[in-house]
Amino acid sequence: MKHKIVTIDGPAASGKEKISKYISKKWQLKHLDSGILYRRLGYILLKDKVEIDKIEEVKKKIKKIKSIPYRKSKKIRTQQIAKIASKIAIYNCVREFINKLQYDFVKENKYYKGFVIDGRDIGSVVFKKANLKLYIDVNPKIRAKRRYKQLIDSGEKSIYRKILRDIELRDNKDKLRKNSPLVVPKNAFIVNNNGEFKDTIKQINNIFKDF
Ligand code: DC
Repeated sequence: MKHKIVTIDGPAASGKEKISKYISKKWQLKHLDSGILYRRLGYILLKDKVEIDKIEEVKKKIKKIKSIPYRKSKKIRTQQIAKIASKIAIYNCVREFINKLQYDFVKENKYYKGFVIDGRDIGSVVFKKANLKLYIDVNPKIRAKRRYKQLIDSGEKSIYRKILRDIELRDNKDKLRKNSPLVVPKNAFIVNNNGEFKDTIKQINNIFKDF
């Protein structure tokens, strides 16, 4: 592997994005959020009214898709799209399709020193030989509180109990599926992100001291 690869795995709303951005800036690594790809695919399937419970329908649609944008977008940040993304993520055909997009991303951005890629199976399946692996650990209640605050601050209506339930449901889906479930990858450093971000940064700087 020519480029340095850092993987960040963890459950929904565990702060992977904020941590990835910090690492990307500090160590000049190109960031890829693999969740965007699952969400983008979910959005396409929803828009084109594909019956996502039927794997053959999903397979047929994927064969016709030429490319998927890697960019973040507000329209894919909804709870509805998150649920669809988590649902379709159980299919092997979806995972193979999205894994290939991730390998292409690394190939196409060769001029970068390295990459920081976050998701659910990045250190355990997609980039097993990564130089450094992190797993972000945060209590579901703290995750729900943070997500609730984010939504309220951005002017959206929100109910804490519903957010907590959605987070727990998505955790179960992501952890219990047969294909590439969310696990702590072998040799991963566990980062405790329950507290203030400055405490998380301290842990990360310590892990990265010889990077
Ligand atoms: O990280 P996120 O919330 O944007 O991810 C949305 C869903 O996509 C998540 O619930 C499961 C799926 N996903 C996955 O299965 N594997 C990844 N590497 C990233 C996301």
